[in-house]
Amino acid sequence: MPVYHLDLSQDQLEGSTIALLPGDPGRVKPIAEEIDQNSRELAYNREYHSYLSFIENTPVITCSTGIGGPSTSIAIEELAELGIKKFIRIGTSGSIQEDISVGTIVITNGAVRLDGASDHFAPMTYPAVSDPSILFHLIKSAKKLGYPYRVGITASSATFYQGQERYDSFSAYVPRHLRGSLEEWQKLNVLNYEMEAATMFVLCSTMGLSAGCVCGIIAARAKSEHVAMDLKAETVKRTIEVAVNAIKSLIDEDM
Ligand code: URA
Repeated sequence: MPVYHLDLSQDQLEGSTIALLPGDPGRVKPIAEEIDQNSRELAYNREYHSYLSFIENTPVITCSTGIGGPSTSIAIEELAELGIKKFIRIGTSGSIQEDISVGTIVITNGAVRLDGASDHFAPMTYPAVSDPSILFHLIKSAKKLGYPYRVGITASSATFYQGQERYDSFSAYVPRHLRGSLEEWQKLNVLNYEMEAATMFVLCSTMGLSAGCVCGIIAARAKSEHVAMDLKAETVKRTIEVAVNAIKSLIDEDM
């Protein structure tokens, strides 16, 4: 029986224990092909698009999560049921600190739980942290590839507009309790905004699974609310390279 949302059955994974998780279903094929040109599409249901690739003889799954905590939690639950033990998110992000420009890679060591889904798995006092080994390999990979990178705390917001204090929305309104939040995260040394890491970290820690997160900065939020579309493709390419290299070194270490 295939799992309900991902429409995948265990035999299709061919024993995979590692998954790369972009948010965007459209990014699954390029990631899988960065690993292995002979990668094979497995399923595409709702926001969940999946491919199987091989690194030497090790099978690796790439599966999109959709945007935000709720859909990410479903992807992780169902992939865990199918045998996945290590999860690496490959995302895009807006920087909060002034000195983090578009194109920078941010590797998350812990996440602020603004995601709205992680509290269904553990109380808010429970930390949202990366697995140290995945963190190590992501850092090693970014260093090796020579891309500008930072390591630190990420704010995982349930929303793209209000929760990330954007005023260029339909209502142009940010509720009072979120006004000034960008400045507060700046002062608290939070590096960036994205929408999935906290859910992923809490869910994986509670289940004894491992998770890591690497994001490419496509909006410099200290200066602008807008995504830098001209630099997005190059930033996404860098982020994919960092993640794929990291799983190669994780697999080498495990052998
Ligand atoms: N993803 C986010 O969540 N925020 C951004 O600003 C860019 C990408």
